[in-house]
Amino acid sequence: MARSEREWDLRTTLVHAGERIPPQAGYPTVHDIVVSNSFVPESPEAADAILGGQRHGYTYSRHNNPTVDALAEAVRRLEGGECGLAYSSGMAAVHAALLATAVAPGDAIVVSRDLYGASINLTQELFAPFGVTVVQANLVDLEEAASVLRRVRPKVVLFEVLSNPLLRVVDGAALTAMAHDVGAQVIVDNTFTTPLLVRPLEFGADLVVHSATKYLGGHGDAVGGVVVTYQRYYERMHRQQKLLGAVLGPFEAWLIHRGLKTLALRFERQCDNAAALAERLVASGRFRRVHYPLLPDHPEHDRIRHVTRDGRGGAVVTLELPGGKPEVFEFLRSLELVVPATTVGDVYSLALYPVMASHRSQTPEERAAMGITEGTVRIAVGIEAVEDIAEDLIAAADRVAATRK
Ligand SMILES: Cc1ncc(COP(=O)(O)O)c(C=O)c1O
Repeated sequence: MARSEREWDLRTTLVHAGERIPPQAGYPTVHDIVVSNSFVPESPEAADAILGGQRHGYTYSRHNNPTVDALAEAVRRLEGGECGLAYSSGMAAVHAALLATAVAPGDAIVVSRDLYGASINLTQELFAPFGVTVVQANLVDLEEAASVLRRVRPKVVLFEVLSNPLLRVVDGAALTAMAHDVGAQVIVDNTFTTPLLVRPLEFGADLVVHSATKYLGGHGDAVGGVVVTYQRYYERMHRQQKLLGAVLGPFEAWLIHRGLKTLALRFERQCDNAAALAERLVASGRFRRVHYPLLPDHPEHDRIRHVTRDGRGGAVVTLELPGGKPEVFEFLRSLELVVPATTVGDVYSLALYPVMASHRSQTPEERAAMGITEGTVRIAVGIEAVEDIAEDLIAAADRVAATRK
C-alpha cells in the first residue's frame, strides 16, 4: 500500500504506485538487491541523526546501501575485522586503504617488489607526485625487508602473501611485526590467498584488501573490492568514500555475495587442482620451469606450510615456456579449454601472459629482477577436472613445439 490511498491523477499514480510499501510479516531468506539510490528514514529526526553520523541507517546509496553493506559485513566476518567497506573495484579498495592510513607528503610507503602491477603504479602515479616516497623492496627476504624498514621508516607497508605471478611467499606475521616495530601500518592484499588460506588481521595487519572481482565473486561476472579493518579507521574511510564516490553497485554486491557462499568449495578445489596440475606439468617435461609453492624446488617450499592455514599453496600455477612472445602467443592461441583472459579466481581456468598484461608497465629489467621472463605464463586454475586442464596445457605446448620445428 502506498503512503496514501488518495485518488491521484493517473499520471501521478504511475510514478508512485507500488513503491515504499512498509515491510510485511515474513522476510526473504536471501537479501534483496536494493537498487534505490535514496531512502526514506522513519522521520526527519532519524534522517538528521543518520546524516549527522550519530546512528547507522540509509539515506543515500553513495553513503550506504543495504545490499552493499551485506557483502561488506560478510567479508568482515570472514576476515575477523571490526568493520568492512565495499568499493567499486579492487583498485578502489587498495586506494581507500592507502588513504585510510593518512599517508601524507614527506611520508614513505614500502611496497613489495612483486606486488600486483597496478597497485605499484597507483602508489607511484597517485601518491608519489604529492610528495610521498615509494620504495619497492623484496619483502620475501626478511633480512632485506628489515634493512629497508630501518632505513626508510615508512608510514605504510603494503604486500601480498603470495606474489603474482611467481607465487613467492611472504612471511606476513614476521614482516608485520617488523613493520610495527618501526611504526608503520600494514596493508595486506589478500586477493590471491583469501581468508581460507590467510587471515592477515590475525597476525596483526591493520587493513586487509580484496579484489572481490577474483575468488570472492568467482564467476567472472562482477568487479568489486572490499577493505576490512578496525573501527579506528572507519570514520575516515567512510567519509573519504562518500567524497570520492568509489561505491560498489548493488547488483555487483549481490553477485559477489552469492559467489561468496561457495568460496570454500571452489577455492579448495582450485588449490587442490593447482597442486595436482603443477606436479603433472613437471612430470610432462614440456615446460622449462613450473612455479608452485608446494613443489620441492620452490624457494619458499618450507615457508608455505606454516604461512597458510591448511598448508595449501594457492590456486595459481605459473609456467615457463621455451621461447618468447611468438611461442607464448602460439600457446595462447592453441588453448581449447583454458581461457586466455586477464583475471584470476573464476570457476574456469585462465591463462595470462604477464609481459603483455599484468606486468606490461614494468621494464624488461624490472621484470627480470622479479624473475618474470618472456616465456612466463600464469595459469589461474579453475574447478574443472584437473586431467582436462593438464591435457589442454600439454597439448598447447606440443603444438608450439611442433610449429617451431
Ligand atoms: C592482487 C590484486 N589486487 C588488486 C587487484 C585489482 O582489482 P580490480 O581489478 O578488481 O580493480 C588485482 C586485479 O587483478 C589483483 O590481482
